[in-house]
Amino acid sequence: MATSLTERDVLNALKGVKDPDLGRDLVDLGMIKDVRISEGSVALVVNLTTPACPLKAKIEHDVRTALEARLPAGLTIQISMTADVRGKGVSESGDIPGVKNVIAVGSGKGGVGKSTMAALIAHGLKSYGSKVGLMDADVYGPSVPHLVGATGRPMAIGDRIQPIETAGLKLMSMGFLLEPDRAVVMRGPMLHGIMNQFLRQVEWGALDYLVIDLPPGTGDVPLTLAQALPLTGAVVVCTPQEVALLDASRAIAMFRQLKVPVLGMIENMSFFDVLAYLRERGGPEARKLAASRASFDEPGDERVYLFGRGGARRKAEQLGVPFLGEVPLNIGVREDGDLGKIDHVFDASSPSRPYMLAIVEQLAAQISIQNIKTPKMPKLEVIA
Ligand SMILES: Nc1ncnc2c1ncn2[C@@H]1O[C@H](COP(=O)(O)OP(=O)(O)OP(=O)(O)O)[C@@H](O)[C@H]1O
Ligand SMILES: [Mg+2]
Repeated sequence: MATSLTERDVLNALKGVKDPDLGRDLVDLGMIKDVRISEGSVALVVNLTTPACPLKAKIEHDVRTALEARLPAGLTIQISMTADVRGKGVSESGDIPGVKNVIAVGSGKGGVGKSTMAALIAHGLKSYGSKVGLMDADVYGPSVPHLVGATGRPMAIGDRIQPIETAGLKLMSMGFLLEPDRAVVMRGPMLHGIMNQFLRQVEWGALDYLVIDLPPGTGDVPLTLAQALPLTGAVVVCTPQEVALLDASRAIAMFRQLKVPVLGMIENMSFFDVLAYLRERGGPEARKLAASRASFDEPGDERVYLFGRGGARRKAEQLGVPFLGEVPLNIGVREDGDLGKIDHVFDASSPSRPYMLAIVEQLAAQISIQNIKTPKMPKLEVIA
């Protein structure tokens, strides 16, 4: 019976099975590959648009359920889940050859954790198996090299600059080009030149994602970047506090003005979990007390909302921007950053790991949505 089955039957059985984020049939999106039919079994590959897909398990389950319901009973069904990151940037003129997606991480207000988030997003995407670069666009206060523990001087081969590679990430930062205690003093046009060199003269190679850490505010750098190439989109980091939210709104308005899609907002420093802190770092008595309870009086009482509660989620809703998730204040994040080991945030024992993984998955999904749903953004033309 199974031998008379054709590939068309299998694809028909999958009609109506959608990628929930993209809202379209897996078959129409070309995500069903390599259908193999043999005596008593069907094997196929579901090729997702990102290895960090938050709905991987659901999609696999939906495919299996549809095949079991619509194909003859008793077949062995084998589903392999793979991913190829899609992008619009490959080899098109004006873009960086080989770089599929360029994502800028900005804020508005300074010190809210942009650089930390940019480095974590880069490491997070890489942890799912993607090829990732991290470009530090904060020319005046480069912090990427320190965060990821990278040193060295980029070499030039011909007129191509080789990025520094650390822990599997390709990196470029003004920090690699300066003596540690020298300040950068330059005017706007030079900044423009440096950004363009970082984008075009650096040998990024094949990348699924290039993450760009922006300086705070709505200044020259985002404008230069938006003029230089069509960005896949921007992520806005903020804290739940009112001034940060105001600045975040301004940053969102700026990206919209620059025709850069806003991929979402991250709320950093959302709360501080006192019990988790005591469990991890308290003295013997405090640890014992903390170990014995999940909260103080009411569930949730262990969380201190230093900068207010839920502000970014509300602001995101109000502005019609996806909310990518919250990241609690955790002393380990600061320590790992200071030690140049920010990737330790993804260690199995790190309390920040689940929050960051969830954000990376939501972001990867938004990037896929952006690539499938909207036409390629035109390069911004500014008449000077
Ligand atoms: N979730 C967090 N928990 C604890 N500390 C954090 C967290 N996020 C960021 N920090 C700390 O806050 C400080 C500021 O972070 P970071 O440098 O990433 O901010 P920034 O927005 O890039 O700043 P700037 O505007 O100067 O570029 C750093 O010391 C960092 O370690
Ligand atoms: Mg920074």
